[in-house]
Amino acid sequence: MMMNSLKFLFFIFCFAFIKQSYQSRIVIPKSYNQFNFTDVAGLESITFDCKGEGSYVGVFDDRILKHELNFSWKEFVIPSLTRERRLCDGSTNPMLEPICGRAFGLKFNDATCDLYIADVYFGLLMVGPKGGVAQVLVNSFEGILFRFTNGLDIDINTGVVYFTDNNIIFQRRYADLLLRSSTDRTRRLFRYDPRTKKASIMYKSLMFPSGVALSQNHSFLLVAETIRAKSVC
Ligand SMILES: *[C@@H]1O[C@H](CO)[C@@H](O)[C@H](O)[C@H]1NC(C)=O
Ligand SMILES: *[C@@H]1O[C@H](CO)[C@@H](O)[C@H](O)[C@H]1NC(C)=O
Ligand SMILES: *[C@@H]1O[C@H](CO)[C@@H](O)[C@H](O)[C@H]1NC(C)=O
Repeated sequence: MMMNSLKFLFFIFCFAFIKQSYQSRIVIPKSYNQFNFTDVAGLESITFDCKGEGSYVGVFDDRILKHELNFSWKEFVIPSLTRERRLCDGSTNPMLEPICGRAFGLKFNDATCDLYIADVYFGLLMVGPKGGVAQVLVNSFEGILFRFTNGLDIDINTGVVYFTDNNIIFQRRYADLLLRSSTDRTRRLFRYDPRTKKASIMYKSLMFPSGVALSQNHSFLLVAETIRAKSVC
């Protein structure tokens, strides 16, 4: 989920037509629309909501923008009320990330339409279907703050959220060090249970776990390990 090179350009491929005779086969067309962002950078995750609206994208300065009709992008979520707009809005300065935050994983719970956010600096966040200021669900484990919350997926039957945290030592702005420290195995897969409001470790000693995906029948999880270029389940 690290796409730092993706700055001002943003491609949306329109899965425009599904051939009548092959209902289940999606054909990717040769043409696509390209949206150019002029006042924000660092686009990361992208998703649709449970009503098929959006898309929604997290940008460098930690706002989540919603795409509305006629190609306009509007602010949908800010991570906290104490985030200083003067410093943060439009920022591309990595040193401000601990103040402004950085939204990496984005996923709507299709049952409740709430949006869950893996915010690198602020932990696992949630915001209702109308957006606004996100609330922190969990930002530490055994008293140690998460330093690089990265990807997430949701079990819509139970509301349980699975998410990854990449480090307890370096922050994301030192991603080069993170990627080089191949001996660091403090990276973990967590399970957040909304009934107990607590996170528990499912798997540790991972090497830079990024994306997480729950299988359709919820019988297994896939985790993408960036450094070892492996997926584990
Ligand atoms: C976006 O930028 C590209 C390359 O600079 C340009 O070709 C394209 O026309 C622009 N698209 C819009 C919608 O402005
Ligand atoms: C989108 O653009 C069309 C044509 O320009 C206009 O009729 C319509 O009201 C616009 N929709 C919104 C939501 O702005
Ligand atoms: C769930 O799906 C996997 C294949 O994706 C299959 O191997 C497994 O048996 C299924 N489990 C249940 C309980 O249906």
